Amino acid sequence: MRALFLALGIGLCTPVHAQQAADTVAPEGAGAGGLQVPGLLARAQAAKDAGRPVEAENWMIAAAHPLAVEAGATVLRAGGTAADAMVAVQAVLGLVEPQSSGLGGGAFLVWHDGASGEITTLDGRETAPLDATPTLFQDASGQPLEFFDAVVGGRSVGTPGTPALLKAAHDRLGQAAWPGLFADAIRLAEEGFAVSPRLASLVAGDADRLARFPATRDYFLPEGEPLAVGDRLRNPAYAETLRALATHGPRAFYTGEIAADIVATVQGAPGNPGVLTETDLAVYRVKERPALCVPYHSYEVCGMGPPSSGASTVGQILGLLSPFDLAGLGSDDPEAWRLIGDASRLAFADRGRYLADSDFVPVPLKGLLASDYLKSRSDLLRGDDALPEIAPGRPEFDHALNRGDDQSIELPSTSHISIVDGYGNALSMTTTIENGFGSRLMVRGFLLNNELTDFSFASHDEGRLIANRVEPGKRPRSSMAPTILRRDGAPVLVLGSPGGSLIIGYVAKTIIAWVDWGMDVQEAVALPHLINRFGPYDLEEPRLAAPLRAMGYEVTLRDLTSGLHAIEIGEVLQGGADPRREGLAYGE
Ligand code: DON
Repeated sequence: MRALFLALGIGLCTPVHAQQAADTVAPEGAGAGGLQVPGLLARAQAAKDAGRPVEAENWMIAAAHPLAVEAGATVLRAGGTAADAMVAVQAVLGLVEPQSSGLGGGAFLVWHDGASGEITTLDGRETAPLDATPTLFQDASGQPLEFFDAVVGGRSVGTPGTPALLKAAHDRLGQAAWPGLFADAIRLAEEGFAVSPRLASLVAGDADRLARFPATRDYFLPEGEPLAVGDRLRNPAYAETLRALATHGPRAFYTGEIAADIVATVQGAPGNPGVLTETDLAVYRVKERPALCVPYHSYEVCGMGPPSSGASTVGQILGLLSPFDLAGLGSDDPEAWRLIGDASRLAFADRGRYLADSDFVPVPLKGLLASDYLKSRSDLLRGDDALPEIAPGRPEFDHALNRGDDQSIELPSTSHISIVDGYGNALSMTTTIENGFGSRLMVRGFLLNNELTDFSFASHDEGRLIANRVEPGKRPRSSMAPTILRRDGAPVLVLGSPGGSLIIGYVAKTIIAWVDWGMDVQEAVALPHLINRFGPYDLEEPRLAAPLRAMGYEVTLRDLTSGLHAIEIGEVLQGGADPRREGLAYGE
């Protein structure tokens, strides 16, 4: 394991609707508005509600649903590693937060090893089917499809990576017995769990699309009605899939009956079939890649390189900001947000042109993060007003490059898991099925991803090839940014978020709030978002809208529903969970 340190310096589901089952679960704890919070986690919920970090001595876990946190805590308490706990967390998330991540999706994992001090990453990203062509998302006349025409159905489904990633992580980094890691998820799937407010509202909002496929409709809209908060939802098909995975490992998923069902569902999707085959599943492999680490003040910020644009874009933003005194300006100064906003725009311009799966296209990572290149781009920030125009730069490259600008569309789901175990290991994993409810296709109790719509729908831009075009076997460019900050080789902060391309801004902001503005993890996570990717400033609240407008920005007020989960590793462990979502941080 080594870091790349860049000197920059199915139909089988049987849901039971509350009315028909008459067994609505009374929430165990004081969770917001009907969320099922196990009693043990009441302290975690209380800390979150009060805006305080959760403290612990030995281990900590922060994830998107209390039942998933509880499953991970059980593993850690029994002496499992962070990788073991992650398997249990992911298995439960696929049940209780099915719209965001699961067996039908993909994930990236960043790992700091407590014993060796080394950092590495595992790439469990979906792949384009071997029969995919660059025109996958174009109509007969070569025009890009409308986003949801591409998403809903089989066309958008990439070969899932998550089951293989769970096993790869466990084989390399775990020590608990594999089958036991699925016990909580299997029990919950069979006994049922209370539908959370977030799941219920997302089902209601997506009912028309979910109703297009019978297996999906029957699960999320039993008797034609969207699931309601507190309904007890059972998923025996998922329990059966997990049992197969627990008993036989990923072979049971990538070959045999489950693989055949996935392929039949994708190829048979009415109106929008896909080209995934059993060969695509059989040849899927997780890739171990070097972590991408960039310096920021006295820290190294380590994350996921290509096919994710996460670490490089977060790294560019921080590198562009390094010469400026953000600490002196503070979080209330519009000037700080001018710098952050335009640094982000500059980094997104480069991302749009250069970032893609580096196994398929040359990506000038070294050039993009070289100190002299960043200095030249950073000098552009020395004015007083919003930059009138932003264009990609010309970083040094080892391979001739003449790229068109990316035209991919990314909309919000996804989940982030942060774990620190009792052995000094730290794990940061962002996991997704892409859009909320992915492709809306459901097989054997889990949803299939629509990750392929993270590719650019167009393959060319004014005659130039687009780096992130569809190619067979290629992994679509991601924005997921699971991150670990280290100081003097020791991990000090573990974080990440959902949010599509907004992830990059959520993560960069949280790092700046913690490093420059001295906030604790809960404050840093909760700090209102101000995000600028492509010109307009997206604001979560009106604070600073007037001064930013005066600087020349177009300002939009909107929800920015991140799902940040962060753990600070200091004298004690401190955990923060995003108040915008249902997750918790908990430790002992
Ligand atoms: O890999 C990516 O960047 C996206 N497919 C992640 C999707 C996402 O985070 C949606 N979020 N709310």
